[in-house]
Amino acid sequence: MSIRIAGTGSYVPERILTNADLEKMVETNDEWIRTRTGIEERHLAADNEATSDMAYEAGRRALEMAGIRGEDLDAIIVGTITPDHVFPSTGCILQQRFGAEGAFCFDLEAACSGLLFSLEVAHSLMKANKRYRRVLVCGAEKLSCITDWTDRNTCVLFGDGAGAVVLESSDDAAVPDCLIASDLHSDGSYTEILKLPAGGSRIPTSAETVANHQHFIHMAGKEVFKLAVNAMVSAGRQVLEDSGIAPEAIKLVIPHQANSRIIHAVAPRLGVPEERVFINVNKYGNTSAASIGICLDEAARGGLIEHGDYVLLTAFGGGLTWGALLIRY
Ligand code: ACO
Repeated sequence: MSIRIAGTGSYVPERILTNADLEKMVETNDEWIRTRTGIEERHLAADNEATSDMAYEAGRRALEMAGIRGEDLDAIIVGTITPDHVFPSTGCILQQRFGAEGAFCFDLEAACSGLLFSLEVAHSLMKANKRYRRVLVCGAEKLSCITDWTDRNTCVLFGDGAGAVVLESSDDAAVPDCLIASDLHSDGSYTEILKLPAGGSRIPTSAETVANHQHFIHMAGKEVFKLAVNAMVSAGRQVLEDSGIAPEAIKLVIPHQANSRIIHAVAPRLGVPEERVFINVNKYGNTSAASIGICLDEAARGGLIEHGDYVLLTAFGGGLTWGALLIRY
């Protein structure tokens, strides 16, 4: 039994916030943002648009490409750190919207690595239990609602959006499996450098936590930067080594879109030429768990990858979490 990528989808909200807009909100400038991050603009969800609404749109497009309906799904997994609610899960909300009555659904929290972790879990579940034949995996975030719009160190970095992938199993021996190698990691000793401090059971929400901006992303950017480069290079090299596939055979590297400088530092160390590295951080900023799904969908629909191509996905995020998947699209 093999598992293939049957469809991809993505969605970004209509509203665009440019660097020029940010210049009016905090003490920053377009040049600083472009040269330090590569970001030119980002999309922000409407006030009445939640993470599940964006995941639904991305998922709908992925199902359409796969040629299946919501009721055909056996599971829905949503990678997110900005769920609609603490509970019920965004996955359960999607189940209702898709009419996926037979599916079991849950959210997975691994920050920017959310889609990679979710794909690995989905693939393992499908291999372990043949009853799960069609699984919808989404990475979706409304980071704008946990962004401190008065903090120039972080507010220029983030955006909203969603990406989705439909995995489908096949008994046809001629269909190659989509997951060739994976290398995923976490390191809980770095919890302090990237976190949303309050609103959980450690520091419950109070008037004081709201006043102290503790419901927003706090990040030690420089430290995260260095760790991100080393971690993505190490995981990327590991999946190349494990698979025995040469860097020249990789059609496209899709790194998590946090910062173009991080991406440009990772690519040459993997031995893959720059022109085979996908970048859209300029348009969307860092959309956390959504970023790799949006890239994969844009690459597929834009004809940059075709079924059978080797694609290296690599991500890094809060937790810390990081890893790489070598897939056959
Ligand atoms: N506009 C103008 N100046 C700014 C801005 C801004 N928006 N932000 C910071 N600065 C200033 C700083 O105050 C600092 O000034 P100082 O030297 O007088 O103190 C100066 O610019 C340089 O700041 P640095 O922090 O050294 O800038 P750096 O080159 O490291 O870039 C950045 C900062 C973009 C945040 C970078 O470190 C980065 O991208 N880090 C990684 C972020 C990341 O990948 N996060 C991933 C996960 S997110 C998640 O999981 C949800």
